[in-house]
Amino acid sequence: MILIIDFGSQYNQLIARRVRECQVYCQIAPPSISEDEIRRLEPEGIILSGGPSSIYEKNSPKADKALLALGVPILGICYGIQFMVHELGGKVKRSKKREYGFAELNIEDASGLLKGVPSPTPCWMSHGDSIAALPPAFRCEASTDNTPIAVASDPNRRLFGVQFHPEVEHTPAGKIIIRNFLFQICGCRKSWTMKSFAKETEEEIRRSTDGQKVVLGLSGGVDSSVTAVLIHKAIGKRLTCILVDNGLLRKDEADQLKQTLRKHLHLNIRFVSARNRFLSALKGVTDPEKKRKIIGKIFIEVFEAEAKKIRGARFLAQGTLYPDIIESVSAFGGPTSVIKSHHNVGGLPKRLKLHLLEPLKYLFKDEVRRLGKELGLPEGMIWRQPFPGPGLAIRIIGEVTRKRLGILREVDAVLQDEIRSAGYYRKLWQSFAVLLPLRSVGVMGDQRTYEHIVAVRAVTSRDAMTADWARLPHKLLAKISNRIINEVDGVNRVVYDISSKPPSTIEWE
Ligand code: XMP
Repeated sequence: MILIIDFGSQYNQLIARRVRECQVYCQIAPPSISEDEIRRLEPEGIILSGGPSSIYEKNSPKADKALLALGVPILGICYGIQFMVHELGGKVKRSKKREYGFAELNIEDASGLLKGVPSPTPCWMSHGDSIAALPPAFRCEASTDNTPIAVASDPNRRLFGVQFHPEVEHTPAGKIIIRNFLFQICGCRKSWTMKSFAKETEEEIRRSTDGQKVVLGLSGGVDSSVTAVLIHKAIGKRLTCILVDNGLLRKDEADQLKQTLRKHLHLNIRFVSARNRFLSALKGVTDPEKKRKIIGKIFIEVFEAEAKKIRGARFLAQGTLYPDIIESVSAFGGPTSVIKSHHNVGGLPKRLKLHLLEPLKYLFKDEVRRLGKELGLPEGMIWRQPFPGPGLAIRIIGEVTRKRLGILREVDAVLQDEIRSAGYYRKLWQSFAVLLPLRSVGVMGDQRTYEHIVAVRAVTSRDAMTADWARLPHKLLAKISNRIINEVDGVNRVVYDISSKPPSTIEWE
Protein backbone atom coordinates (compact mmCIF):
# COMPACT_ATOMS: atom_id res chain seq x y z
CA MET A 1 0.00 0.00 0.00
CA ILE A 2 0.92 3.61 -0.50
CA LEU A 3 0.43 6.15 2.25
CA ILE A 4 -0.49 9.70 1.26
CA ILE A 5 0.22 12.36 3.84
CA ASP A 6 -2.38 15.10 3.49
CA PHE A 7 -0.93 18.61 3.71
CA GLY A 8 -4.27 20.09 2.68
CA SER A 9 -4.10 20.24 -1.11
CA GLN A 10 -7.34 20.43 -3.02
CA TYR A 11 -5.89 17.69 -5.25
CA ASN A 12 -5.40 15.04 -2.57
CA GLN A 13 -8.30 12.89 -3.57
CA LEU A 14 -6.92 13.00 -7.08
CA ILE A 15 -3.58 11.61 -5.94
CA ALA A 16 -5.44 8.73 -4.31
CA ARG A 17 -7.43 8.20 -7.49
CA ARG A 18 -4.31 8.06 -9.63
CA VAL A 19 -2.67 5.51 -7.35
CA ARG A 20 -5.76 3.33 -7.30
CA GLU A 21 -6.12 3.57 -11.05
CA CYS A 22 -2.74 1.85 -11.13
CA GLN A 23 -4.38 -0.92 -9.06
CA VAL A 24 -2.34 -0.09 -6.00
CA TYR A 25 -4.13 0.39 -2.70
CA CYS A 26 -3.58 3.66 -0.86
CA GLN A 27 -4.76 5.52 2.20
CA ILE A 28 -4.66 9.18 3.12
CA ALA A 29 -3.44 10.16 6.58
CA PRO A 30 -3.13 13.54 8.34
CA PRO A 31 0.39 14.93 8.93
CA SER A 32 -0.05 14.15 12.62
CA ILE A 33 0.31 10.42 11.95
CA SER A 34 3.12 9.07 14.14
CA GLU A 35 6.21 7.21 13.00
CA ASP A 36 4.92 4.11 14.81
CA GLU A 37 1.58 4.23 13.04
CA ILE A 38 3.35 4.53 9.70
CA ARG A 39 5.53 1.52 10.50
CA ARG A 40 2.45 -0.47 11.46
CA LEU A 41 0.82 0.29 8.11
CA GLU A 42 3.96 -1.00 6.33
CA PRO A 43 3.62 1.26 3.30
CA GLU A 44 5.68 0.45 0.23
CA GLY A 45 5.95 4.15 -0.45
CA ILE A 46 4.82 7.51 0.91
CA ILE A 47 3.49 10.47 -1.06
CA LEU A 48 3.67 13.88 0.61
CA SER A 49 0.86 15.94 -0.86
CA GLY A 50 0.74 19.57 -1.83
CA GLY A 51 -0.89 22.17 0.38
CA PRO A 52 -1.86 25.83 0.45
CA SER A 53 0.65 26.92 3.12
CA SER A 54 4.15 28.25 3.01
CA ILE A 55 6.62 26.10 4.92
CA TYR A 56 7.58 29.23 6.87
CA GLU A 57 4.09 29.96 8.15
CA LYS A 58 3.82 29.37 11.87
CA ASN A 59 0.85 27.05 11.58
CA SER A 60 1.83 25.31 8.38
CA PRO A 61 1.33 21.54 8.63
CA LYS A 62 4.44 19.52 9.49
CA ALA A 63 4.82 15.78 9.48
CA ASP A 64 7.17 13.83 11.73
CA LYS A 65 10.62 14.35 10.22
CA ALA A 66 11.46 10.76 11.14
CA LEU A 67 9.39 9.51 8.22
CA LEU A 68 12.11 10.81 5.88
CA ALA A 69 14.55 8.34 7.43
CA LEU A 70 12.33 5.24 7.40
CA GLY A 71 14.01 3.94 4.28
CA VAL A 72 10.62 3.91 2.51
CA PRO A 73 10.60 5.64 -0.90
CA ILE A 74 9.02 9.09 -0.74
CA LEU A 75 7.54 11.31 -3.42
CA GLY A 76 6.96 14.93 -2.40
CA ILE A 77 4.52 16.94 -4.49
CA CYS A 78 4.60 20.78 -4.39
CA TYR A 79 4.43 21.63 -0.67
CA GLY A 80 5.54 18.02 -0.12
CA ILE A 81 8.91 18.54 -1.84
CA GLN A 82 9.34 21.86 -0.03
CA PHE A 83 8.74 20.16 3.31
CA MET A 84 11.33 17.53 2.43
CA VAL A 85 13.92 20.04 1.22
CA HIS A 86 13.40 22.27 4.25
CA GLU A 87 13.70 19.41 6.74
CA LEU A 88 16.79 17.92 5.11
CA GLY A 89 18.86 21.10 5.08
CA GLY A 90 18.04 22.67 1.72
CA LYS A 91 16.53 26.10 1.19
CA VAL A 92 13.01 27.11 0.20
CA LYS A 93 12.64 30.61 -1.19
CA ARG A 94 9.65 32.60 0.02
CA SER A 95 7.57 34.20 -2.61
CA LYS A 96 4.53 36.43 -2.55
CA LYS A 97 3.66 35.71 -6.15
CA ARG A 98 2.05 32.43 -7.12
CA GLU A 99 3.02 30.59 -10.25
CA TYR A 100 -0.20 29.14 -11.54
CA GLY A 101 -0.92 27.24 -14.74
CA PHE A 102 1.04 25.57 -17.51
CA ALA A 103 4.82 25.46 -17.66
CA GLU A 104 7.19 23.61 -19.92
CA LEU A 105 9.30 21.02 -18.16
CA ASN A 106 12.81 20.46 -19.52
CA ILE A 107 14.29 17.20 -18.39
CA GLU A 108 17.97 16.90 -17.57
CA ASP A 109 17.98 13.41 -16.08
CA ALA A 110 15.44 10.84 -17.21
CA SER A 111 16.88 7.83 -15.42
CA GLY A 112 14.59 7.59 -12.39
CA LEU A 113 11.26 9.22 -11.70
CA LEU A 114 11.13 10.78 -15.17
CA LYS A 115 11.94 7.65 -17.15
CA GLY A 116 9.91 7.61 -20.36
CA VAL A 117 8.70 11.21 -19.99
CA PRO A 118 9.22 13.21 -23.20
CA SER A 119 11.16 16.47 -22.95
CA PRO A 120 9.93 19.13 -22.99
CA THR A 121 6.56 18.23 -21.55
CA PRO A 122 3.73 20.42 -20.19
CA CYS A 123 3.22 20.44 -16.44
CA TRP A 124 0.73 22.16 -14.14
CA MET A 125 2.14 24.55 -11.56
CA SER A 126 0.34 25.94 -8.53
CA HIS A 127 2.81 27.24 -5.97
CA GLY A 128 4.11 30.35 -4.24
CA ASP A 129 7.41 29.32 -2.63
CA SER A 130 10.07 27.49 -4.57
CA ILE A 131 13.31 25.62 -3.95
CA ALA A 132 16.45 27.77 -3.85
CA ALA A 133 19.01 25.16 -2.75
CA LEU A 134 18.83 21.38 -2.54
CA PRO A 135 19.85 19.39 0.54
CA PRO A 136 23.16 17.49 0.38
CA ALA A 137 23.11 14.46 -1.94
CA PHE A 138 20.08 15.74 -3.86
CA ARG A 139 20.30 16.50 -7.56
CA CYS A 140 18.08 18.45 -9.93
CA GLU A 141 16.44 16.39 -12.66
CA ALA A 142 14.27 18.91 -14.48
CA SER A 143 13.43 22.61 -14.60
CA THR A 144 11.03 25.13 -16.13
CA ASP A 145 11.69 28.77 -17.06
CA ASN A 146 10.40 30.07 -13.74
CA THR A 147 11.32 27.11 -11.58
CA PRO A 148 14.98 26.06 -11.93
CA ILE A 149 14.45 23.12 -9.57
CA ALA A 150 11.19 21.50 -10.69
CA VAL A 151 12.14 17.86 -10.08
CA ALA A 152 14.81 16.66 -7.67
CA SER A 153 15.90 13.43 -6.03
CA ASP A 154 18.34 11.60 -3.84
CA PRO A 155 18.17 8.16 -5.49
CA ASN A 156 20.27 6.48 -2.80
CA ARG A 157 17.82 7.38 -0.08
CA ARG A 158 14.95 6.97 -2.59
CA LEU A 159 13.63 10.48 -1.93
CA PHE A 160 11.96 12.22 -4.89
CA GLY A 161 10.07 15.44 -5.37
CA VAL A 162 8.23 17.44 -8.00
CA GLN A 163 7.23 21.07 -7.79
CA PHE A 164 4.29 20.67 -10.19
CA HIS A 165 1.18 18.49 -9.87
CA PRO A 166 1.54 15.13 -11.64
CA GLU A 167 -1.92 14.05 -10.43
CA VAL A 168 -3.93 16.58 -12.49
CA GLU A 169 -5.07 16.05 -16.08
CA HIS A 170 -3.16 19.19 -17.12
CA THR A 171 0.11 17.31 -16.58
CA PRO A 172 -0.21 14.73 -19.37
CA ALA A 173 2.95 12.84 -18.35
CA GLY A 174 1.82 12.77 -14.72
CA LYS A 175 0.57 9.22 -15.00
CA ILE A 176 4.00 8.04 -16.21
CA ILE A 177 5.63 9.76 -13.23
CA ILE A 178 3.22 8.18 -10.75
CA ARG A 179 3.62 4.77 -12.38
CA ASN A 180 7.42 5.10 -12.22
CA PHE A 181 7.20 5.91 -8.54
CA LEU A 182 4.84 3.04 -7.74
CA PHE A 183 6.33 0.27 -9.82
CA GLN A 184 9.98 1.15 -10.55
CA ILE A 185 10.83 2.88 -7.30
CA CYS A 186 8.52 1.36 -4.66
CA GLY A 187 8.22 -2.05 -6.33
CA CYS A 188 4.43 -2.16 -5.84
CA ARG A 189 2.42 -4.91 -7.52
CA LYS A 190 -0.94 -4.42 -9.19
CA SER A 191 -3.19 -6.10 -6.68
CA TRP A 192 -5.99 -3.63 -5.92
CA THR A 193 -9.00 -4.79 -7.92
CA MET A 194 -12.64 -4.75 -6.96
CA LYS A 195 -12.60 -8.53 -6.87
CA SER A 196 -9.71 -8.62 -4.42
CA PHE A 197 -11.23 -5.80 -2.40
CA ALA A 198 -14.56 -7.61 -2.14
CA LYS A 199 -12.88 -10.85 -1.08
CA GLU A 200 -10.63 -9.26 1.51
CA THR A 201 -13.42 -7.10 2.90
CA GLU A 202 -15.77 -10.04 3.24
CA GLU A 203 -13.11 -11.87 5.23
CA GLU A 204 -12.55 -8.80 7.37
CA ILE A 205 -16.30 -8.47 8.04
CA ARG A 206 -16.50 -12.12 9.10
CA ARG A 207 -13.49 -11.69 11.33
CA SER A 208 -14.57 -8.47 13.00
CA THR A 209 -18.21 -9.40 13.56
CA ASP A 210 -17.15 -12.74 15.02
CA GLY A 211 -20.48 -14.55 14.78
CA GLN A 212 -22.53 -11.55 15.99
CA LYS A 213 -25.55 -9.93 14.34
CA VAL A 214 -25.49 -6.72 12.29
CA VAL A 215 -28.25 -4.20 11.53
CA LEU A 216 -28.22 -1.80 8.63
CA GLY A 217 -30.45 1.10 7.62
CA LEU A 218 -31.26 0.59 3.98
CA SER A 219 -32.32 3.58 1.89
CA GLY A 220 -32.25 1.90 -1.50
CA GLY A 221 -29.45 4.22 -2.60
CA VAL A 222 -26.29 2.77 -4.06
CA ASP A 223 -24.10 3.15 -0.94
CA SER A 224 -26.34 1.39 1.55
CA SER A 225 -27.37 -1.26 -0.99
CA VAL A 226 -23.77 -2.15 -1.85
CA THR A 227 -22.89 -2.21 1.85
CA ALA A 228 -25.81 -4.54 2.51
CA VAL A 229 -24.93 -6.94 -0.29
CA LEU A 230 -21.28 -7.07 0.71
CA ILE A 231 -22.10 -7.81 4.36
CA HIS A 232 -24.78 -10.28 3.33
CA LYS A 233 -22.21 -12.15 1.26
CA ALA A 234 -19.91 -12.26 4.26
CA ILE A 235 -22.32 -13.23 7.04
CA GLY A 236 -25.63 -14.13 5.35
CA LYS A 237 -28.68 -14.08 7.59
CA ARG A 238 -26.79 -12.54 10.48
CA LEU A 239 -27.42 -9.24 8.68
CA THR A 240 -30.84 -7.63 9.07
CA CYS A 241 -31.66 -4.55 6.98
CA ILE A 242 -34.28 -2.06 8.05
CA LEU A 243 -36.04 -0.01 5.42
CA VAL A 244 -38.22 2.79 6.73
CA ASP A 245 -40.96 4.03 4.43
CA ASN A 246 -41.33 7.64 5.58
CA GLY A 247 -43.98 8.47 3.01
CA LEU A 248 -41.59 10.90 1.39
CA LEU A 249 -40.31 8.59 -1.33
CA ARG A 250 -40.95 8.99 -5.04
CA LYS A 251 -43.79 7.39 -6.99
CA ASP A 252 -43.87 3.58 -6.55
CA GLU A 253 -40.40 3.76 -5.02
CA ALA A 254 -41.11 1.82 -1.82
CA ASP A 255 -42.66 -1.08 -3.77
CA GLN A 256 -39.91 -1.13 -6.35
CA LEU A 257 -37.27 -1.16 -3.66
CA LYS A 258 -38.96 -4.04 -1.87
CA GLN A 259 -39.12 -6.06 -5.05
CA THR A 260 -35.55 -5.51 -6.14
CA LEU A 261 -33.98 -5.91 -2.75
CA ARG A 262 -35.86 -9.06 -1.82
CA LYS A 263 -36.07 -10.79 -5.15
CA HIS A 264 -32.70 -10.06 -6.65
CA LEU A 265 -30.54 -9.68 -3.63
CA HIS A 266 -32.14 -12.12 -1.18
CA LEU A 267 -31.52 -9.77 1.70
CA ASN A 268 -33.14 -10.21 5.06
CA ILE A 269 -35.20 -7.00 5.22
CA ARG A 270 -37.70 -5.57 7.64
CA PHE A 271 -39.96 -2.97 6.06
CA VAL A 272 -41.35 -0.44 8.46
CA SER A 273 -44.21 1.66 7.22
CA ALA A 274 -44.24 4.89 9.18
CA ARG A 275 -45.85 7.22 6.64
CA ASN A 276 -48.49 8.61 8.96
CA ARG A 277 -46.03 9.29 11.73
CA PHE A 278 -43.83 11.40 9.50
CA LEU A 279 -46.69 13.23 7.83
CA SER A 280 -48.48 14.13 11.04
CA ALA A 281 -45.25 15.43 12.55
CA LEU A 282 -44.69 17.60 9.48
CA LYS A 283 -48.15 19.13 9.61
CA GLY A 284 -48.00 22.93 9.49
CA VAL A 285 -44.17 22.99 9.37
CA THR A 286 -42.64 25.23 6.70
CA ASP A 287 -39.14 25.97 8.00
CA PRO A 288 -36.58 23.85 6.11
CA GLU A 289 -34.34 23.13 9.11
CA LYS A 290 -37.34 22.20 11.26
CA LYS A 291 -38.51 19.78 8.59
CA ARG A 292 -35.07 18.13 8.47
CA LYS A 293 -34.86 17.90 12.26
CA ILE A 294 -38.33 16.37 12.59
CA ILE A 295 -37.64 13.81 9.86
CA GLY A 296 -34.24 12.94 11.36
CA LYS A 297 -35.67 12.54 14.84
CA ILE A 298 -38.57 10.33 13.82
CA PHE A 299 -36.32 8.25 11.62
CA ILE A 300 -34.07 7.55 14.57
CA GLU A 301 -37.03 6.66 16.80
CA VAL A 302 -38.53 4.29 14.23
CA PHE A 303 -35.19 2.73 13.39
CA GLU A 304 -34.26 2.33 17.03
CA ALA A 305 -37.53 0.62 17.91
CA GLU A 306 -37.11 -1.83 15.05
CA ALA A 307 -33.42 -2.46 15.71
CA LYS A 308 -34.16 -3.29 19.34
CA LYS A 309 -36.35 -6.16 18.17
CA ILE A 310 -33.31 -7.83 16.66
CA ARG A 311 -31.99 -9.69 19.65
CA GLY A 312 -28.26 -9.88 20.04
CA ALA A 313 -27.37 -7.28 17.38
CA ARG A 314 -23.91 -5.90 18.10
CA PHE A 315 -23.05 -3.93 14.98
CA LEU A 316 -24.58 -1.09 12.99
CA ALA A 317 -23.47 -1.00 9.37
CA GLN A 318 -23.29 2.24 7.38
CA GLY A 319 -22.42 3.08 3.80
CA THR A 320 -19.93 5.81 4.69
CA LEU A 321 -17.62 6.64 1.77
CA TYR A 322 -14.05 7.84 1.64
CA PRO A 323 -14.73 11.52 0.86
CA ASP A 324 -16.70 11.77 4.14
CA ILE A 325 -13.72 10.49 6.06
CA ILE A 326 -11.17 12.64 4.28
CA GLU A 327 -13.24 15.70 5.03
CA SER A 328 -13.57 14.85 8.67
CA VAL A 329 -9.90 13.99 9.14
CA SER A 330 -8.81 17.11 7.25
CA ALA A 331 -5.24 18.14 7.25
CA PHE A 332 -4.84 20.77 9.88
CA GLY A 333 -7.30 22.01 12.40
CA GLY A 334 -10.96 21.89 11.48
CA PRO A 335 -12.52 20.33 8.45
CA THR A 336 -11.75 21.79 5.03
CA SER A 337 -15.42 21.67 4.15
CA VAL A 338 -18.61 21.13 6.03
CA ILE A 339 -19.98 17.66 5.72
CA LYS A 340 -23.66 17.23 5.07
CA SER A 341 -25.60 15.95 8.00
CA HIS A 342 -26.98 13.28 5.72
CA HIS A 343 -25.98 10.31 7.76
CA ASN A 344 -29.44 9.64 8.94
CA VAL A 345 -28.40 7.09 11.51
CA GLY A 346 -25.78 9.40 13.04
CA GLY A 347 -25.98 9.28 16.82
CA LEU A 348 -27.59 5.86 16.73
CA PRO A 349 -24.57 3.68 17.45
CA LYS A 350 -24.12 5.33 20.85
CA ARG A 351 -27.77 5.13 21.79
CA LEU A 352 -28.07 1.52 20.75
CA LYS A 353 -24.65 0.62 22.11
CA LEU A 354 -23.62 -0.79 18.75
CA HIS A 355 -20.22 -0.93 17.09
CA LEU A 356 -19.94 0.73 13.71
CA LEU A 357 -19.22 -1.31 10.61
CA GLU A 358 -18.29 0.80 7.58
CA PRO A 359 -16.85 -1.50 4.92
CA LEU A 360 -16.88 1.11 2.12
CA LYS A 361 -15.09 3.77 4.06
CA TYR A 362 -12.04 3.69 1.80
CA LEU A 363 -13.93 3.85 -1.49
CA PHE A 364 -14.97 6.65 -3.81
CA LYS A 365 -18.45 6.74 -5.33
CA ASP A 366 -17.46 5.34 -8.70
CA GLU A 367 -15.50 2.58 -6.98
CA VAL A 368 -18.64 1.73 -5.00
CA ARG A 369 -20.50 1.45 -8.29
CA ARG A 370 -17.81 -0.87 -9.67
CA LEU A 371 -18.00 -2.93 -6.49
CA GLY A 372 -21.80 -3.09 -6.85
CA LYS A 373 -21.32 -4.45 -10.34
CA GLU A 374 -18.80 -6.99 -9.10
CA LEU A 375 -21.32 -8.11 -6.46
CA GLY A 376 -24.05 -8.53 -9.05
CA LEU A 377 -26.35 -5.62 -8.17
CA PRO A 378 -28.77 -4.76 -10.96
CA GLU A 379 -27.70 -1.81 -13.17
CA GLY A 380 -30.77 0.17 -12.15
CA MET A 381 -29.58 0.13 -8.56
CA ILE A 382 -25.97 0.90 -9.25
CA TRP A 383 -26.80 3.96 -11.31
CA ARG A 384 -29.50 5.50 -9.14
CA GLN A 385 -29.00 9.20 -8.69
CA PRO A 386 -28.52 10.29 -5.05
CA PHE A 387 -31.76 10.94 -3.18
CA PRO A 388 -31.73 12.87 0.10
CA GLY A 389 -32.77 11.19 3.35
CA PRO A 390 -35.58 13.72 4.01
CA GLY A 391 -36.90 12.84 0.55
CA LEU A 392 -39.53 14.89 -1.19
CA ALA A 393 -40.13 16.93 1.97
CA ILE A 394 -37.18 19.19 1.12
CA ARG A 395 -38.40 19.50 -2.46
CA ILE A 396 -41.79 20.79 -1.38
CA ILE A 397 -41.24 24.38 -0.38
CA GLY A 398 -43.65 25.23 2.40
CA GLU A 399 -45.92 22.73 4.06
CA VAL A 400 -45.74 19.03 3.18
CA THR A 401 -49.25 17.68 2.67
CA ARG A 402 -50.55 14.51 1.07
CA LYS A 403 -51.97 16.54 -1.79
CA ARG A 404 -48.75 18.40 -2.51
CA LEU A 405 -46.75 15.16 -2.23
CA GLY A 406 -49.12 13.64 -4.78
CA ILE A 407 -48.52 16.49 -7.24
CA LEU A 408 -44.75 16.39 -6.86
CA ARG A 409 -44.67 12.59 -7.28
CA GLU A 410 -46.48 12.82 -10.60
CA VAL A 411 -44.27 15.67 -11.80
CA ASP A 412 -41.14 13.80 -10.76
CA ALA A 413 -42.27 10.63 -12.53
CA VAL A 414 -42.73 12.51 -15.83
CA LEU A 415 -39.38 14.23 -15.43
CA GLN A 416 -37.50 10.99 -14.72
CA ASP A 417 -39.18 9.30 -17.62
CA GLU A 418 -38.07 12.01 -20.05
CA ILE A 419 -34.56 12.28 -18.64
CA ARG A 420 -34.11 8.53 -18.95
CA SER A 421 -35.50 8.22 -22.45
CA ALA A 422 -33.30 11.08 -23.63
CA GLY A 423 -30.26 9.17 -22.29
CA TYR A 424 -29.43 11.81 -19.67
CA TYR A 425 -30.08 9.92 -16.44
CA ARG A 426 -26.51 8.67 -15.96
CA LYS A 427 -24.90 11.82 -17.26
CA LEU A 428 -26.52 13.92 -14.55
CA TRP A 429 -25.57 13.90 -10.90
CA GLN A 430 -29.20 14.57 -10.08
CA SER A 431 -32.39 15.59 -11.85
CA PHE A 432 -35.54 16.37 -9.90
CA ALA A 433 -38.50 18.70 -9.51
CA VAL A 434 -39.35 21.17 -6.76
CA LEU A 435 -42.88 22.24 -5.89
CA LEU A 436 -43.06 25.96 -5.14
CA PRO A 437 -45.41 27.60 -2.65
CA LEU A 438 -46.67 29.92 -5.37
CA ARG A 439 -49.44 29.90 -7.89
CA SER A 440 -49.57 31.61 -11.23
CA VAL A 441 -52.21 32.45 -13.77
CA GLY A 442 -52.50 30.38 -16.92
CA VAL A 443 -54.94 29.59 -19.66
CA MET A 444 -56.04 26.10 -20.57
CA GLY A 445 -58.74 25.42 -23.15
CA ASP A 446 -60.04 29.00 -22.95
CA GLN A 447 -60.29 28.73 -19.19
CA ARG A 448 -58.33 30.82 -16.77
CA THR A 449 -56.26 28.66 -14.39
CA TYR A 450 -54.55 29.60 -11.15
CA GLU A 451 -52.27 26.71 -10.33
CA HIS A 452 -48.94 25.51 -8.94
CA ILE A 453 -45.47 26.22 -10.30
CA VAL A 454 -42.76 23.59 -10.37
CA ALA A 455 -39.05 24.11 -10.86
CA VAL A 456 -36.94 21.55 -12.67
CA ARG A 457 -33.40 21.11 -11.38
CA ALA A 458 -30.72 19.11 -13.23
CA VAL A 459 -27.08 19.30 -12.23
CA THR A 460 -23.75 17.85 -13.14
CA SER A 461 -21.24 17.24 -10.37
CA ARG A 462 -18.32 15.04 -9.40
CA ASP A 463 -18.88 14.89 -5.66
CA ALA A 464 -21.83 17.19 -4.79
CA MET A 465 -19.46 19.69 -3.16
CA THR A 466 -19.73 21.83 -6.29
CA ALA A 467 -22.27 21.49 -9.07
CA ASP A 468 -23.30 23.20 -12.26
CA TRP A 469 -26.76 23.38 -13.81
CA ALA A 470 -27.01 21.01 -16.73
CA ARG A 471 -27.23 22.51 -20.21
CA LEU A 472 -30.12 20.25 -21.22
CA PRO A 473 -31.20 20.62 -24.84
CA HIS A 474 -34.10 23.04 -25.33
CA LYS A 475 -36.03 20.33 -27.11
CA LEU A 476 -35.85 18.10 -24.05
CA LEU A 477 -36.81 20.95 -21.71
CA ALA A 478 -39.77 21.76 -23.94
CA LYS A 479 -40.95 18.15 -23.84
CA ILE A 480 -40.57 17.95 -20.07
CA SER A 481 -42.53 21.17 -19.59
CA ASN A 482 -45.30 20.17 -22.03
CA ARG A 483 -45.79 16.77 -20.50
CA ILE A 484 -45.81 18.05 -16.91
CA ILE A 485 -48.39 20.74 -17.63
CA ASN A 486 -50.55 18.41 -19.70
CA GLU A 487 -50.35 15.36 -17.51
CA VAL A 488 -50.24 16.64 -13.96
CA ASP A 489 -53.38 18.18 -12.57
CA GLY A 490 -52.77 21.34 -10.61
CA VAL A 491 -49.58 22.53 -12.39
CA ASN A 492 -49.67 25.24 -15.04
CA ARG A 493 -46.09 26.51 -15.10
CA VAL A 494 -42.60 24.96 -15.24
CA VAL A 495 -39.37 26.88 -14.70
CA TYR A 496 -35.76 25.68 -15.08
CA ASP A 497 -33.25 26.35 -12.30
CA ILE A 498 -30.03 27.85 -13.74
CA SER A 499 -28.02 28.29 -10.54
CA SER A 500 -24.74 26.58 -9.77
CA LYS A 501 -23.35 25.44 -6.41
CA PRO A 502 -21.90 27.51 -4.85
CA PRO A 503 -23.54 29.93 -4.23
CA SER A 504 -26.77 27.94 -4.48
CA THR A 505 -27.07 24.38 -3.19
CA ILE A 506 -28.30 21.40 -5.16
CA GLU A 507 -31.47 20.91 -3.12
CA TRP A 508 -33.69 23.92 -2.52
CA GLU A 509 -33.95 23.38 1.23
P1 XMP B 1 -26.90 20.29 -1.25
O1 XMP B 1 -28.34 20.59 -1.41
O2 XMP B 1 -26.38 20.64 0.08
O3 XMP B 1 -26.77 18.71 -1.39
O4 XMP B 1 -26.06 20.89 -2.36
C1 XMP B 1 -25.61 17.99 -1.70
C2 XMP B 1 -25.98 16.54 -1.92
O5 XMP B 1 -26.45 15.96 -0.72
C3 XMP B 1 -27.78 15.48 -0.87
N1 XMP B 1 -28.48 15.81 0.38
C4 XMP B 1 -28.78 14.89 1.29
N2 XMP B 1 -28.63 13.56 1.33
N3 XMP B 1 -29.69 13.48 3.45
C5 XMP B 1 -29.10 12.84 2.40
O6 XMP B 1 -28.99 11.62 2.42
C6 XMP B 1 -29.88 14.82 3.50
O7 XMP B 1 -30.40 15.36 4.46
C7 XMP B 1 -29.41 15.56 2.36
N4 XMP B 1 -29.44 16.88 2.04
C8 XMP B 1 -28.85 17.00 0.83
C9 XMP B 1 -28.33 16.22 -2.07
O8 XMP B 1 -29.37 15.51 -2.70
C10 XMP B 1 -27.10 16.35 -2.93
O9 XMP B 1 -26.83 15.18 -3.66
